[in-house]
Amino acid sequence: MFILSLLYAFFLLFSLGASCPFHEGVNMAADFTFVATENNNFRSMPRDAPPTDDEIAINNVRVFDGDKLLPATTVVIRGNTIISIGHSSKTGKQVEGNGGVLLPGLIDAHAHPSNITDLQNLSCYGVTTTMLMACFQPQLCQSLKNHTGLVDIVAGSLPAAGPGSVHGSIIVAVDGNGDRLVSNVSTAAQWVDEAVAWGPDFIKLIAESPGLDQKTLDVLTEQSHQHGKQVACHASALDAYNQAATARVDHIQHAPLDQPISTELAGYMRSRGQVATPTLAILRAISDASPTTRNYTAAEETVRRLKAAGVPIVAGTDANLIGGGFVPTVAFGVSLHDELRLLVNAGLSPVEALRAATSVAAKQWGLDDRGVIAPGKRADLVLLSENPLEDIHATTTIQKVWLAGVEFSGAIGSF
Ligand SMILES: *[C@@H]1O[C@H](CO)[C@@H](O)[C@H](O)[C@H]1NC(C)=O
Ligand SMILES: *[C@@H]1O[C@H](CO)[C@@H](O)[C@H](O)[C@H]1NC(C)=O
Ligand SMILES: *[C@@H]1O[C@H](CO)[C@@H](O)[C@H](O)[C@H]1NC(C)=O
Ligand SMILES: *[C@@H]1O[C@H](CO)[C@@H](O)[C@H](O)[C@H]1NC(C)=O
Ligand SMILES: *[C@@H]1O[C@H](CO)[C@@H](O)[C@H](O)[C@H]1NC(C)=O
Ligand SMILES: [Zn+2]
Repeated sequence: MFILSLLYAFFLLFSLGASCPFHEGVNMAADFTFVATENNNFRSMPRDAPPTDDEIAINNVRVFDGDKLLPATTVVIRGNTIISIGHSSKTGKQVEGNGGVLLPGLIDAHAHPSNITDLQNLSCYGVTTTMLMACFQPQLCQSLKNHTGLVDIVAGSLPAAGPGSVHGSIIVAVDGNGDRLVSNVSTAAQWVDEAVAWGPDFIKLIAESPGLDQKTLDVLTEQSHQHGKQVACHASALDAYNQAATARVDHIQHAPLDQPISTELAGYMRSRGQVATPTLAILRAISDASPTTRNYTAAEETVRRLKAAGVPIVAGTDANLIGGGFVPTVAFGVSLHDELRLLVNAGLSPVEALRAATSVAAKQWGLDDRGVIAPGKRADLVLLSENPLEDIHATTTIQKVWLAGVEFSGAIGSF
């Protein structure tokens, strides 16, 4: 489906140079409506694993509670909630953990799912929450929400992009006009007021060159904060990264593929409480495709400097199935495990990488009900047979996945 691919392409995109392979005036309404309807139909279908109020006791598991590994014990869940650690359950269904490791459900803080297959693929690899990093069509984004037994979606807004920019020209191609671009600083606040209308969970901005100027990014961020929304900003080159940091956005997406950020910039981000989501999985794929112009080593160096400065690092992949030769595809779910390994290769310890995909991600996104294994939290859980704190590759030893207390009913993802 080329039209849909084009549409999703709009979500991410690293500036691919001057040429812009888009045509204006494509009417996408029918495709959106079709996919959204299919997604909504799936939500209303009777499912294999309806939530119940029965207890489930997961016995003989070492618990990674989001911070550290606890000795083997029992975790009991009921409904969608973890009710205890260290107590057995006489009445509940018993699950044997065989001395494996129980993780909080994994969070992929940057992905572009569009249909139920994408949600299933995320879920079968233990991803229980994902940030839908941009939304073109509210109807489609809402149709991905509230699916029992599947990954929970935190949805971003339409990306804010300017006329004449790469991302802006994608919006023009999708809409057939530039009505939803941010024309200049005087329209920025109103743009945000309109972008929040359908109820996105956060605001997505694009820093790029050519693109929105500093003042416009500043106003977009301020106005988003006025609405109580966090701001996530795309920045895949050093200039853009500087702009995003200066604008005081909450989350900077990607890492520069031209040169590493300076230690001063990392310190500046730390002092302002900003968070980085390096998305090494897609950066690796992009630099593999264009090794002469994209420097993956620079991205790894940025991760080292962010870590040294104490900037919180969150795991995200930019998973997408756009393809078509103009942005690398990154598979849903399995790529989060690649991201964990790439973060470790870039200098994080295994426990830091695991926190980046659990407790740190949840905390920095204000998701107080998840990211840790503790009584009262959402029963988002991943049971492994091996210990990823010893070797990060062990996250691929998934035995079972629970999403808000509902065990994933399909086959666990293969690696
Ligand atoms: C979701 O989209 C992919 C193509 O991106 C397609 O292969 C798959 O069949 C779609 N799934 C559903 C449920 O429509
Ligand atoms: C999802 O569930 C929440 C909480 O129950 C509800 O507020 C929201 O309207 C639902 N959204 C959709 C699209 O079903
Ligand atoms: C800003 O953009 C709006 C809408 O395109 C336009 O009416 C206005 O003249 C522009 N203002 C400036 C200062 O360029
Ligand atoms: C890539 O970045 C690394 C780290 O900053 C640097 O040492 C190396 O020279 C860069 N390579 C190229 C080809 O620019
Ligand atoms: C998604 O999952 C299905 C099985 O549910 C598998 O056949 C397919 O290869 C997966 N796609 C990707 C891109 O991982
Ligand atoms: Zn993206």
